[in-house]
Amino acid sequence: MNELIKIKMSDQEIDAWPSFLQGAVNDKNKFCIEIESERKLCGLCDYLYFSEGKLKFHSVDLGIMCFDFEETYRYHQRQQYAISREPLAKALGIKGIERPFVWDTTCGTGKDSLLINYFGAKLRTFERHPAIYLLLADAIRRYPLDFEIVFADASQLFSTITEENRPDVIYYDPMYPEKTGSKKSALPRKEMRIFKEVVGEDFDSAEFLEWALKTAKSRVVVKRSLSAVPIKENPTASYNGKSTRYDMYKIF
Ligand SMILES: C[S@@+](CC[C@H](N)C(=O)[O-])C[C@H]1O[C@@H](n2cnc3c(N)ncnc32)[C@H](O)[C@@H]1O
Repeated sequence: MNELIKIKMSDQEIDAWPSFLQGAVNDKNKFCIEIESERKLCGLCDYLYFSEGKLKFHSVDLGIMCFDFEETYRYHQRQQYAISREPLAKALGIKGIERPFVWDTTCGTGKDSLLINYFGAKLRTFERHPAIYLLLADAIRRYPLDFEIVFADASQLFSTITEENRPDVIYYDPMYPEKTGSKKSALPRKEMRIFKEVVGEDFDSAEFLEWALKTAKSRVVVKRSLSAVPIKENPTASYNGKSTRYDMYKIF
């Protein structure tokens, strides 16, 4: 993903835009944001807009998407997880006082990142799609948490990865194609349908996994649906949740 992806942004409430958004508009090397008048966009295409203190995405077919970290965090607090039994925590190697440094390389809605953070890991997250990244940057602005969200494909960082900042664990949850089969599964929740429309499929998952296996110090964890084949055969262990599986590749 080397060329800049164009994003349309409505001029609604432009005087109230937070500084990170102004900065993104001005940073033409990183973002290609075209500001249009609300009257012109008028709900006729997909675009970002700022309203009631929040950055939101308008999908012409699927409605509005906005990330709310406070709501997600409070949800996790209510769950009273027994971390030692949680498949994601087990896959990442979070137990007792062990707090591995995890890179969530596919931040998406931020829900898994918040869970990893809640489980107590040290965390850095990455998102390469500009519209999704801006929604995440706005979510963490409104509800600050102790991890960083980086606008990048981690596998393209090359020279900036040093022995000191190398992660113990790389977590990877790419977008997959819709399942085809005789039985039509229930439609994915609205957010994931918007993701399919905006981000599409991540075609580079096999290469990415090879990079991750050379970069993480101790393990790589890949999220899959329960029935999907592993991206790379023979994971060291797999941990099943209700509808997902975490394939863990230990680095020896
Ligand atoms: C299936 S979603 C991740 C869902 C996420 N785990 C959550 O909790 O919402 C995949 C996301 O990762 C991003 N992505 C995929 N490959 C990436 C990469 N190599 N670097 C950064 N972001 C990536 C996509 O743009 C998309 O937003």
